[in-house]
Amino acid sequence: MNHQNIKIILISLFISVIFFTVGIFSINKLYNLKPGQQTASAIDAFEYEKKEIVIPEKKITTLFFVGDMMLTRGVKNSVDKNFSGDFSKLFENLGILKDSDILFGNLEGDVSDVGNNVGSKYSFRMDPQVLPILKDAGFDIVSFANNHVGDWNTDAFEDTLSRLEENEILKTGAGINKEDVENPTIIEKNEIKFGFLGFSDVGPNWIEAKKNTPGILLASDPRFEEIIINAKTKCDVLIVSIHFGDEYKLVHNSRQENLAHSAIDNGADMIIGHHPHVMEDIEEYKGKTIVYSLGNFIFDQYFSKDTMRGMFFSVKYDGKNLIETEQKIITLNKKFQPEGIFNKEEIEKKDEEIKDICPEPDKEYLDMSLLNIGQEVGLEDIGYIPKNLRELNLESSARNDICLIKEAKDSFESMTEDAKNEGYVIKAISGFRSYETQKNMFSDALKNNEENILISMAKPGYSEHQLGTAVDLAEYPKINSADAPLNIWLRGKAHLYGFIQSYPEGKENITGYKSEPWHYRYVGIEKAKEIIEKNQTISEYLSL
Ligand code: DAL
Ligand code: ZN
Repeated sequence: MNHQNIKIILISLFISVIFFTVGIFSINKLYNLKPGQQTASAIDAFEYEKKEIVIPEKKITTLFFVGDMMLTRGVKNSVDKNFSGDFSKLFENLGILKDSDILFGNLEGDVSDVGNNVGSKYSFRMDPQVLPILKDAGFDIVSFANNHVGDWNTDAFEDTLSRLEENEILKTGAGINKEDVENPTIIEKNEIKFGFLGFSDVGPNWIEAKKNTPGILLASDPRFEEIIINAKTKCDVLIVSIHFGDEYKLVHNSRQENLAHSAIDNGADMIIGHHPHVMEDIEEYKGKTIVYSLGNFIFDQYFSKDTMRGMFFSVKYDGKNLIETEQKIITLNKKFQPEGIFNKEEIEKKDEEIKDICPEPDKEYLDMSLLNIGQEVGLEDIGYIPKNLRELNLESSARNDICLIKEAKDSFESMTEDAKNEGYVIKAISGFRSYETQKNMFSDALKNNEENILISMAKPGYSEHQLGTAVDLAEYPKINSADAPLNIWLRGKAHLYGFIQSYPEGKENITGYKSEPWHYRYVGIEKAKEIIEKNQTISEYLSL
């Protein structure tokens, strides 16, 4: 090869390289390939672009709903004790909550450092540091229409509203005036306006929003239907949240059903209920979903399995069409920390593991059923657990884990059945308590600054409930006043079943406790009759 030929070959090579480089550069530019993709062939590049063109963007919106959250009292004590005061630890097993487009929950109480305790039986005011943590956990919107929003008066209520706003958490059910609460809170996702309206059906009525006054929206509002009709005109999907129902009831009542149906008849697309602290049923009505009660999300109600878990309800919308609903369960551990989100099979497996609800004594104890326990006399052996504790049936108790000794249980169930036939509903809300349970209840009451605690709550080791014979009755219908029909019925009949009111009105100086018309103790039919005939208290009778 002569020089001339070598020159020609080199020049041709050089020109080819130039053309090739310019060509690739142009293709990259044309299809906007990144530097790492520079080796892609033109065919790949075409496909790259084609994919972008042909795949239509899906407009799926995911909404998650969880129930009652109350991050004070026992929850705060636990966070202080177990997590060095770090509330974010409560959410460490729930990273998935952030995967929703909209996360909703019911905020059961004020979040503030101002206000005065109005003195409800239970008053909740959470530490303001919880709000950024709720935001970080994924919460977009909370319902703030429930029976605890007025616990620390209007100052704390209004302060909570401002703090929610500062932390960019939306609210529904509460607002600065009537117009504000009636206006649905809109969250726009994928060009769909999701509107939220919130009502409370359990008060507090005194904090109802007025024309120029902040407050909440009540389900008893005579304009209930009109408010819903108006709200629907402002959004594509209307979600109505209602705080309603009976506490600890596993099935909805007729009032809940009427309200939910009426809301749907007037334009609501989904009803989300809360308040009973336990999960209730889900109904499909006219093609719309009613979740009657989500139950607890984070709450310190350690006394039953049903209050230590709650619903995780997730839904998917394609545009404004509901395409999927799913119900799972979040369980709480003893620290009131959610353990995770479980499906039906996983929960059934967990339940298998907690077979026997009523505890059994770990050794032979002397029978203490007739101990004259009271202010002065406590159990010598604080680990005392009576023999033969049995679970009350659901006809006679508000939950499925209330235990009494067998004889007392049988008699109590007969009494509730007879009472029912005469038109009276009797439900137990508390029965046997271990030393630990009494201790927790006592210290919670103490931390809650309940006044005169020593005359309303027995010290651990000193409660009749630890004997497995005492039962507290639910307050429906109200039995707190002496002339309530159920109270009159019980005073006339309970002894025929072996039950005596331990702390009657007018005998406070003998019993050492404030009157408790809901608290009965089983002493056996013979003894109960004698006590009534002699017009004595149990303590007088037993001290003889
Ligand atoms: N409330 C009653 C006295 C108890 O705690 O046992
Ligand atoms: Zn009691």
